[in-house]
Amino acid sequence: MSDLPARISVREVGPRDGLQNEEPVPTAAKVELINRLSATGVRRIEAVSFVRPDAIPQMADADQVWHEIDRAPSVRYSALVPNLKGAARALDSGLTEIEAVVSASDTHNRKNVNRSTAESLDDIASIIEQAHARGATCQVIVSTAWGCPYEGDVPVERVVGVAGRAVASGADSVSFGDTTGMATPGRVSRLVGEFRSIHPDFPLNLHFHNTRGTGLANVLAALELGVADFDASVGGLGGCPYAPGATGNIATEELIHMVEDMGVDTGIDLDAMIDAAADAERIIGRQLPSQVLRAGPRTRTIRA
Ligand code: COA
Ligand code: ZN
Repeated sequence: MSDLPARISVREVGPRDGLQNEEPVPTAAKVELINRLSATGVRRIEAVSFVRPDAIPQMADADQVWHEIDRAPSVRYSALVPNLKGAARALDSGLTEIEAVVSASDTHNRKNVNRSTAESLDDIASIIEQAHARGATCQVIVSTAWGCPYEGDVPVERVVGVAGRAVASGADSVSFGDTTGMATPGRVSRLVGEFRSIHPDFPLNLHFHNTRGTGLANVLAALELGVADFDASVGGLGGCPYAPGATGNIATEELIHMVEDMGVDTGIDLDAMIDAAADAERIIGRQLPSQVLRAGPRTRTIRA
């Protein structure tokens, strides 16, 4: 394990991926959570998404949230966009970092954004152009990269093909999203290996959900391949309370807790992130799945 990256970059996605799957919370609570996260040492936060307010009411106040948070100079804030209109809204709001999302499987892409994968890829080429024209960066998130809840396994060649189209369109980076937690470490190695064999140095982020308990194992497999950029959500926020089995992203504090003990620096204060997770729990009003939040760091002792 001596070849693990010395440090990784963590993007906190709880305020977007987490909160979009919870019962809607008041704007002030979102602002409080983002401000809290901004003080943990985390350097990237996906704060909101600019989507149809009637499709995802949880993000209807994206513009207001974006304007009300205290933006820390040490933090890069970003927004997810599903289409051209979302990109225009984000750029008009002053975002300088956006993520355009497309699913590798057609069925999921149609359910999620009402387009075929090919249509979304065409739109994304213009989104990238518009972002760059306005001095912003654009990452392309390839969802259902390890499987689709409707189609099952998605062939690696298809996922790499979709990502390749994003690279060719000028994306600043690519993210592979394990939307419903279908990845396992072997599949992570295969997809990352295939992508890297074609685009060896292209910036790559990985986004895991812990739906089937393989989240941190997937991170470890990726670390061993030198991937150094991961999404995580505070407390493991996310997962619809009304969808049986659905869970959130890997918990940020669990990610920090594991990798820091392996000598991989995150720049994030673990105790501050655990406190933020406790806050998130209070805001959401239900117990979050993070085990490090429950048990505390491994060095926490109890009185004998
Ligand atoms: N933000 C706000 N409004 C939007 C919008 C956006 N990003 N995109 C479209 N609209 C509006 C249009 O202006 C139009 O409004 P009108 O009827 O008042 O004229 C209406 O929505 C229909 O536009 P259309 O282009 O046909 O969109 P659509 O109905 O095909 O919806 C998406 C497409 C992408 C906007 C919608 O499916 C969506 O919001 N999906 C997000 C899913 C998501 O967040 N998933 C989780 C993250 S991966
Ligand atoms: Zn996700």
